Amino acid sequence: MEYKHFPGAALRLPEIGFGTWRYRGGVLPLRKAIELGAHLIDTAESYGTEEIVGEAIRGVRDRVFLATKALPRHFRRADLLKSADESLKRLGVGHIDLYQLHWPNYTVPIAETMATMEELVDRGKIRFIGVSNFSVSDLEKAQAALSRHKIVSNQVRYSLIDRTIEGSLLRYCEQQDIALVAYSPLASGLGHIKERDAHRTLERVSGLTGKSEGQVALNWCITKSQVIAIPKASSVDHVQDDCGAAGWRLSPEHVALLDRGIGFRRRGRVEARLRRVARHLLQRLGRNQ
Ligand SMILES: NC(=O)c1ccc[n+]([C@@H]2O[C@H](COP(=O)([O-])OP(=O)(O)OC[C@H]3O[C@@H](n4cnc5c(N)ncnc54)[C@H](OP(=O)(O)O)[C@@H]3O)[C@@H](O)[C@H]2O)c1
Repeated sequence: MEYKHFPGAALRLPEIGFGTWRYRGGVLPLRKAIELGAHLIDTAESYGTEEIVGEAIRGVRDRVFLATKALPRHFRRADLLKSADESLKRLGVGHIDLYQLHWPNYTVPIAETMATMEELVDRGKIRFIGVSNFSVSDLEKAQAALSRHKIVSNQVRYSLIDRTIEGSLLRYCEQQDIALVAYSPLASGLGHIKERDAHRTLERVSGLTGKSEGQVALNWCITKSQVIAIPKASSVDHVQDDCGAAGWRLSPEHVALLDRGIGFRRRGRVEARLRRVARHLLQRLGRNQ
């Protein structure tokens, strides 16, 4: 496994980690991932997989970079402290390596949430502060509310068919040395990529490189210096295949073929802003996630 370094945060992350949303694979695939050095395991209080992750890392905790998330409806101080404690209990560990705010919550003062995240670091319950689904302006506000610690990562959707982060977010995170943790990097299944790949570019680049289609799709994500990817893999075979996406690079020509050949979505500023307003309204109506 190859690693990426984020010196601003003294952070070293594997190019490939593993997610556990809708994960039903049991302990073996996760143990194989750790054995292969893909030691970032991502879960969330909402996934219902913290217990199985806890079981998988038992005995190898010191080799794992454990990431979990708190739901937006738990962003008030008392709720966030409770959420962290409950995650620690379900995971069966003494600390979380990366604690992430799952989505922004525009109804809770960001100063209160970030002060609580700092409190969790200072109490030794979490090591690093991360966020997920944050825009540049969300990140700026959240970082400005921190006084002693830095936001080290933003977990965002990124794949061959969703390139929204290539707008301003990728550049901002490069400038600030914030890791971008690409979720759904296989588009939640290679079939979704193929639906937008009329000329079978993925298959072609796979043939040209001698790598599997999954490896090509993941490698395309991690060619960006700031990006690591966290696919979900329910079998040892898929874990092994995904880990083989690390440690080499697609050539610029192959990247260009994929860039041009596969249809994708890139939300613009207006659409992103409308989505934020809609989220804000829903949160005000009490339909928080
Ligand atoms: N922060 C957020 O809001 C958020 C949102 C969504 C997801 N996430 C995180 O991102 C993780 C991954 O995203 P995702 O689960 O949506 O989808 P994904 O990783 O893009 O795709 C998972 C699918 O790809 C298959 N797969 C895995 N490796 C493969 C390979 N080598 N060849 C062919 N198929 C392969 C899996 O099959 P098998 O399961 O059969 O192996 C599964 O069907 C989640 O588990 C979660 O941790 C975060």
